[in-house]
Order: sequence, then structure tokens, then C-alpha cells
Amino acid sequence: MVETSTVPEIFSRARKLIEPGLHRAIDSLSMELRPLASYHLGWTDENGLETGGDQGKGVRPALALLSAEAVGKPAEAGIIGAIAIELVHDFSLIHDDVIDNDIERRHRSTVWSLFGTGQAIILGDALNALAMRLVLDPTLIGIRPPTEKDIPHLASAAKCLADATAAMISGQALDMAFEHFNEIDVAGCLAMEAGKTGALLGCASSIGAILAGAEEKQITVLERYGIELGMAFQAIDDILGIWGDPLTTGKQTFSDLRQHKKTLPIAIALTSKSKHANELSKLLLEEELNEFEIERAAELIEKCGGKEAAMTEAKHRFESSLAVLEKANLDSYAKSELINVAHFVIDRKF
Ligand code: IPE
Ligand code: IPE
Ligand code: MG
Ligand code: MG
Repeated sequence: MVETSTVPEIFSRARKLIEPGLHRAIDSLSMELRPLASYHLGWTDENGLETGGDQGKGVRPALALLSAEAVGKPAEAGIIGAIAIELVHDFSLIHDDVIDNDIERRHRSTVWSLFGTGQAIILGDALNALAMRLVLDPTLIGIRPPTEKDIPHLASAAKCLADATAAMISGQALDMAFEHFNEIDVAGCLAMEAGKTGALLGCASSIGAILAGAEEKQITVLERYGIELGMAFQAIDDILGIWGDPLTTGKQTFSDLRQHKKTLPIAIALTSKSKHANELSKLLLEEELNEFEIERAAELIEKCGGKEAAMTEAKHRFESSLAVLEKANLDSYAKSELINVAHFVIDRKF
């Protein structure tokens, strides 16, 4: 059994550290896009009034700052990477909600459902471009100009971010394609999840170290930790998408089933040898499932062992993420926080 975790202290520290820069970054957007970004980030409501909305967990910036500390540098060395990775994540969520036809995220209406699909597309595009511009030119948000020595590190961080963004987009394309397949084998599903989520977590967990000019070995180890953690993260997301409490997750349950997604528990169940797999397969072939059919599908996935096996996969990835951390020399406090973040990811209910 995985021990229950407390919320790692890095989450609140990272939020405070990135907040001024994130505000400056959003201020640099055109006046048409600023209110939309501010709404998505939980700073204002749909009328532009300041609210204390759900800002997301902030897992990726926390990892980015820890990765700088893990290689013996101050968290500040990773700030530009932390802001950029969260902006790419936000871009991915805003577009993901259009793709998945989801009307609720972070306990609020999604951007597209309030402001329209066009606005969601352009806002996602803007955040993606902004993220890349920030890494290439941190002076945009008032960070001191890079020295000669910093420039190759900024270029490597930009490559990490661009590669991870491209992998995320490919993973999302596969996720969409799988809606039209009756079943997907587990290896195919895991490859899709490595793209859509593993890659960004891998970059988040190493970008601070890259910016800090760490040794190659440390960077590789941190990236591998993040990829494994990302796989655990997505497996838990898939479980919460069927069996989570929407009041806690802030997202509607059963959306994956309605959208004919082949998430991990679903892929496992459909390809299982269970006598229930046939009924599940027939149900999921329906163009539109009613509430009763959705509940039945969830029940069948569980009977086929999909929930349990997805949890086993999550725990296995969690354990690999911790094992990887042993392979490089890392600062002991940052390492203990990386372990705490991994516990948080596997125990999370939101
Ligand atoms: C949701 O990510 C998308 C996935 C990769 C599963 P998070 O669960 O990190 O979203 P926020 O930022 O906390 O809302
Ligand atoms: C997660 O997508 C990955 C990205 C957003 C790139 P999902 O569709 O699985 O995640 P949620 O459940 O909507 O957050
Ligand atoms: Mg989604
Ligand atoms: Mg999706």
C-alpha cells in the first residue's frame, strides 16, 4: 500500500514564486485575450470581476522549481520554466475541453462553453506561443537579461518545452483517433498517455535543472522521474474520470465514456478475458449512451478488472518514479519533496 501523503510544501511556495511573473506574462497578451486567460486561471469570473476561483493544482510548476533545487540551485533559477510549462499545460487544457466536449473544469465552466470555441482555440494558441517566447526571452516579464553562459541553457529549455508540447499534441491526436476504435490494446493506450501527459511532466521535472545548467545525468534522471510520474498521474486521472466525485475533482464524471475514450481502465477492460468484456464492448459501440448505460459500463469495467489494473499500473509507475531518483546525485531536501509530490499524485482525489 502506498502511504497517505500530505500536500507537499512546494505547491504553495511555487504558486507564490511564479505568481508575479505569470501575471506579467498574461498582461503581455492582447486586451481581447487577457480576460479569457484571467478567467481560465481562476483570477476573475466571466464578467472580469476578481474571484478566488480554482487555479489548478500547480503540479508542473512545483516540479520545475524542485528540479532546479534538486541540482543544488535556488528555485528562482527555474521560474521561467515553471511559468512556461504551466502556460503550455493551460493551453492543453483549454483545447482539451473543446476536443472532449467538456463543460466543467476546476469547478467552473470551461472557456469554450462560456466564450465559444473560437475564443478557446485562439486563447490556447496564444498561451502556447507565450510560453515559448518567455523561455527564449525572459526579459518579457522583467527577468534580468540572460548572460552569455545562460543562453545555451535557455535554448535547451526551449527545446525541452517544444519537444514535450509536440509529444503532447501527438498524444492528444491519438486519444482522439482511439474514440473511433472498438478497442485499443494496453500498450497502445500507454503510448498515447505517455504522449499526452508523460512528456509534459517529464519536461516539467527537468526544465529547472536544464535552466540551472545541471549535469546531463541529473537532467535525464529528473526527466525520467517525471515521465513515470506522468504515467501514474494520467492513470489516476482516468480512474477519477469514472469513479471520482465531481464535487472534488471539479470535472464531470463519465465524460470519457460518453466520448468513447479508450482510457486505461477502459482499454484494459475491453481487452480483458473477462466474460463481461463482450457486454461492455457492445455497450460502448452505441453512438449515445444514456445514464443507465453509462452506469452499467462503469460497473462492467470494474467487473473486468479495469479499475484495479489501472490502479496497479499507477502504483507501479509511482514506484518506478521513486526508483529512478536513486540514480543521480540530487539535493536531499528537493529529493524528499519530489517523493512527496509523487505520493500526492498517487493518493489524489482531485
Ligand atoms: C489535468 O491536469 C490534465 C491531465 C494531464 C490529466 P491537472 O490535473 O494537473 O490539472 P489542474 O491544472 O490541476 O487543473
Ligand atoms: C489529459 O487529457 C491530457 C491533456 C489535457 C493534454 P484528459 O482529457 O485525459 O484530461 P482531463 O480529465 O480532461 O483533465
Ligand atoms: Mg479531457
Ligand atoms: Mg482529453
